[in-house]
Amino acid sequence: MDRGQIGVLPRPSRLADESYLEFVTSFRNLAIRQLFPLVAQHGETALASAITAGSIAAPAPGKPVPLAAIRRQFRTVAVVPTFERFVRTQQEMMWRRTRESFLQTAPGLLARMDAAAASHPERLHIDPDFHVPAYTRCEIHCQPGGYTDDPLGGIVFHYGTKVFYEGSNDQDELHIELADRMTLPADGRVARILDIGCSIGQATTALRDNHPDADIWGLDVAEPLIRYAHMRAVEQGKTVHFKQALAEATGFGDGAFDCVLSYILFHEVTVPAMQAIIAEMFRVLRPGGTFSIYEFPNNDQDQLPASNRFLIDYDSRNNCEPYSPAFVASDFRGMLSAAGFVVEDGPALSNAFLQSLVARKPA
Ligand SMILES: C[S@@+](CC[C@H](N)C(=O)[O-])C[C@H]1O[C@@H](n2cnc3c(N)ncnc32)[C@H](O)[C@@H]1O
Repeated sequence: MDRGQIGVLPRPSRLADESYLEFVTSFRNLAIRQLFPLVAQHGETALASAITAGSIAAPAPGKPVPLAAIRRQFRTVAVVPTFERFVRTQQEMMWRRTRESFLQTAPGLLARMDAAAASHPERLHIDPDFHVPAYTRCEIHCQPGGYTDDPLGGIVFHYGTKVFYEGSNDQDELHIELADRMTLPADGRVARILDIGCSIGQATTALRDNHPDADIWGLDVAEPLIRYAHMRAVEQGKTVHFKQALAEATGFGDGAFDCVLSYILFHEVTVPAMQAIIAEMFRVLRPGGTFSIYEFPNNDQDQLPASNRFLIDYDSRNNCEPYSPAFVASDFRGMLSAAGFVVEDGPALSNAFLQSLVARKPA
């Protein structure tokens, strides 16, 4: 049955599912917060010992240890295979039970999305001829059907990320923080805002509260996500637009926006797509406009601890994160500068893992 919501968070259809997913949350916490520090500590020690013993060549000054050597040495540490199995298993448990649960109430949910679409069609922009590129259709993070191919993908993503954030984003707290920290143009003029890779529109609706007079758009490649985003916005009484489109070809005019926000999109696209998205954002921002970006760390392979590189590599291979290694290795700042942006560090988020950048289009 539909057990309603707690604030803006949907409840799973059965209490047993909610309890199970609470358990998965604590299992995730055990893997990431308790086991990973041990992985990092013992893995780094094993790597240092292997270098001292000469079984791994010491890297040249300023050069990182090769990833293959990190993989090999970390896997000699007893806790590592356990960590790897725990991370993968909690992910499988989380998606399977979340989807099974919301499948019980699927007709009602699909009807709610249809009702929202019928009540405010002018704010939901879906082109029936839109072609979803193959690279965006992988089952990223092991979500069944990925972002694009499951009609229930929005609610499944919503509750799956509730588990991922371990309850810290139940009322969109993180997305409210994103909206609060978005960097505004120096002249303060904010008439139109674009949130790219907006998923289920949590930041898009938070932006509405901060900028009551602005025209606000969330854009995403995935129809299931933006249909759910639109339903949430309508039910919350928030007037925002959602559009299914590629961030690399938005269909908006030159200089159409004062601000663009991007939260953890770039590490999920290919390098050619990254470059195309950067060029497109430069085009759709007006002179003086700002592009606020929160992303994985990158371009600092030499400085990143081996344990971080181990984790990103693990995630790319075992959590269907196929594009992040290339993103992490890329010169993202350089690409932004080459496109014409003036790039600076942006305001930090409470999630200190992420880098924060502001790319300004010269006035
Ligand atoms: C990690 S999620 C982003 C999270 C989201 N910004 C938030 O506030 O929670 C990545 C999103 O980017 C979307 N996406 C991936 N490639 C895209 C592209 N080329 N154009 C537009 N959206 C894309 C995915 O469908 C997904 O919703």
